[in-house]
Amino acid sequence: MTLLSGKRILLVIGGGIAAYKVLDLVRRLRERGASVRAAMTKAAAEFVTPLSVASLTGGKVYDDLFSLIDEAEMGHIELSRDADLVVIAPATADLLAKLANGLANDLASTLLLATDKKVLAAPAMNLRMWLHPATQRNVTTLRKDGVLFVGPNDGDMACGEYGPGRLAEPLQIVAAIAAALESDTAIPLPAGLARGAGAANGALAGRRVVVTSGPTHEPIDPVRYIANRSSGKQGHAIARAAAEAGADVALISGPVNLPDPAGVQTKHVETAREMLSAVDAALPADIFVATAAVADWRMAETGESKLKKGGNGAPKLHLVENPDILAAIAQRNHARPKLVVGFAAETDDVLAHARKKLEAKGCDLMVANDVSAATGIMGGDTNTIHIVTREGIDSWPTLDKDEVARRLIARLARELTA
Ligand SMILES: Cc1cc2nc3c(=O)[nH]c(=O)nc-3n(C[C@H](O)[C@H](O)[C@H](O)COP(=O)(O)O)c2cc1C
Repeated sequence: MTLLSGKRILLVIGGGIAAYKVLDLVRRLRERGASVRAAMTKAAAEFVTPLSVASLTGGKVYDDLFSLIDEAEMGHIELSRDADLVVIAPATADLLAKLANGLANDLASTLLLATDKKVLAAPAMNLRMWLHPATQRNVTTLRKDGVLFVGPNDGDMACGEYGPGRLAEPLQIVAAIAAALESDTAIPLPAGLARGAGAANGALAGRRVVVTSGPTHEPIDPVRYIANRSSGKQGHAIARAAAEAGADVALISGPVNLPDPAGVQTKHVETAREMLSAVDAALPADIFVATAAVADWRMAETGESKLKKGGNGAPKLHLVENPDILAAIAQRNHARPKLVVGFAAETDDVLAHARKKLEAKGCDLMVANDVSAATGIMGGDTNTIHIVTREGIDSWPTLDKDEVARRLIARLARELTA
């Protein structure tokens, strides 16, 4: 008996190159005891045959809004409601746009508008289509309307580009379906599942969370800068998880190659000083999570012109200390966030350094991790962390950064109400 046993899924298949993957999704769902009814768009039938879909679902495939026979057998309204969950996979840019704008000019879009069930969308498209402001606007609207999302994942695209836009893997979609069916609680959720309006009941509903993420860049001259290897993946995942848990989230991001998380107000900055003033502007908040790898030093002065090679050897770089954002916020007397969380990225004596840092900065919780090159944590997709508090140390297994984010947010939500 699995969570999916006896559940009825209405699968709306859109016309994308990833449509073939839904054949595997259907198989996985049926293996787990769910029944699947499929509706396909006209474009979907260009990518995968209705016959293949019918063979795998073991039933009729619906594709025509104006079919007298279908309407007599099961009207489109009944079809849209006779399910426990509606899943759109692949959710094309076109289907998302239609649903965000209330268009219903074929069977798939009509079902999506007529349903009274939760809708889970698994988008898949070229990364430029996904990152296009119109698509992002539609996704934001749909999240607000309560549509759940799984993926898209980063990766190689059929068109030869790399980035966000790949359909979530079938098992990832299965996990998202199980979570969507299971309950209305915000945490934990499987990778990539955003909660949309359901987040109104989330563990951080009504709370404000400010997160910093990524590196800072400190100019040496107009063309060179001091940087570090932080990718921003962990900080962005924390901002996303907080939003999924219903919080009002401000993300202050240094220069990263990541899309802004949907449903999060994101402010882009370059330097440590800009980051501090953006954090100041984003406060007050209930929780402040300082994930960013802020440069410790900057140039005392940066000139207007590029440093030139001369006969006098390498230039001496005169560095001064940057403001300590974590300490500045943790040691505030006025309007200090109730929970201030720091990250200690260390290459040796990780726990000892983290304990020292917890005291020195005055924060409530330190997330310690070993970022020496061999761990692959900086820039990678997984993280192995230790939560260091005055009460003790809690070491977590290696988890993907989304899962670390969700567990951390769940813990912070508990501490906030403790
Ligand atoms: C080869 C090919 C691949 C396509 N792949 C995608 C895709 O992955 N995602 C997407 O949103 N649109 C994709 N499109 C465009 C859609 O098929 C097109 O927007 C269509 O109108 C979508 O219809 P539907 O939303 O009713 O399924 C592709 C088009 C072609 C010709």
